Amino acid sequence: MKNHDIVEKNIGLMLVLVVVAISFGGLVQIVPQFFLKETTTPIEGLKPLPAIALEGRDVYIREGCHVCHTQMVRPLRAEVERYGHYSVAGESVYEHPFLWGSKRTGPDLARVGGRYSDKWHKAHLYNPRNVVPKSNMPSFPWLFDAVVDEELTPKKMAALRKVGVPYTDEDIAGASEAVKGVTEIDALVAYLQQLGTLPVLQQKR
Ligand code: HEC
Repeated sequence: MKNHDIVEKNIGLMLVLVVVAISFGGLVQIVPQFFLKETTTPIEGLKPLPAIALEGRDVYIREGCHVCHTQMVRPLRAEVERYGHYSVAGESVYEHPFLWGSKRTGPDLARVGGRYSDKWHKAHLYNPRNVVPKSNMPSFPWLFDAVVDEELTPKKMAALRKVGVPYTDEDIAGASEAVKGVTEIDALVAYLQQLGTLPVLQQKR
């Protein structure tokens, strides 16, 4: 019997070999990314999120904003003209987990920082219909009452530091104080307002 017959007539063996073949393909494609300078070097001016914005990011994740909004501007003319500079790998090196997303029910938010006032964001998040009459985005009124848990912020920062986000001892020591009494809506708006605001991302593309 030829080798190929053996594989074709033994489904268990074939499954194992298929998995081996596919994982090899995966490894060859994915592993080099971990070592590419382009994907591991932060872009100029990139800093870890301040305590308030970090808490806002967690609200963003908890409320599922990333399910309807991407943070990934593709390098296509229509996208760049609408949103701004296309997304680059180096702006996400401190993101754990990243929030690129894949589905746009609403617009991409990677460059939304500074596009609207804090007041606009609050009115919009309280009830999107107040500012965009035909919006089908959900309302998030509870964010206005809920307060950030200041006990957790330093722990989150310490955990992120373990995976390579360069928070300093001072950042961590001052984190609780920085978010004390801050409402979730203020944290979320602080997070939104810094998205895509680094000077290198404002440059002509
Ligand atoms: C069910 C899908 C859905 C969810 C979940 C959702 N949005 Fe939206 N969002 C939309 C749609 C649709 C629009 C466009 C209409 C509008 O402006 O309200 C939008 C618009 C926006 C805009 C204005 C963007 C621009 O450039 O004009 C912001 C900011 C925004 N959403 C933030 C959020 C945040 C923060 C959350 C989580 C708390 C969230 N959205 C959750 C669907 C969603």
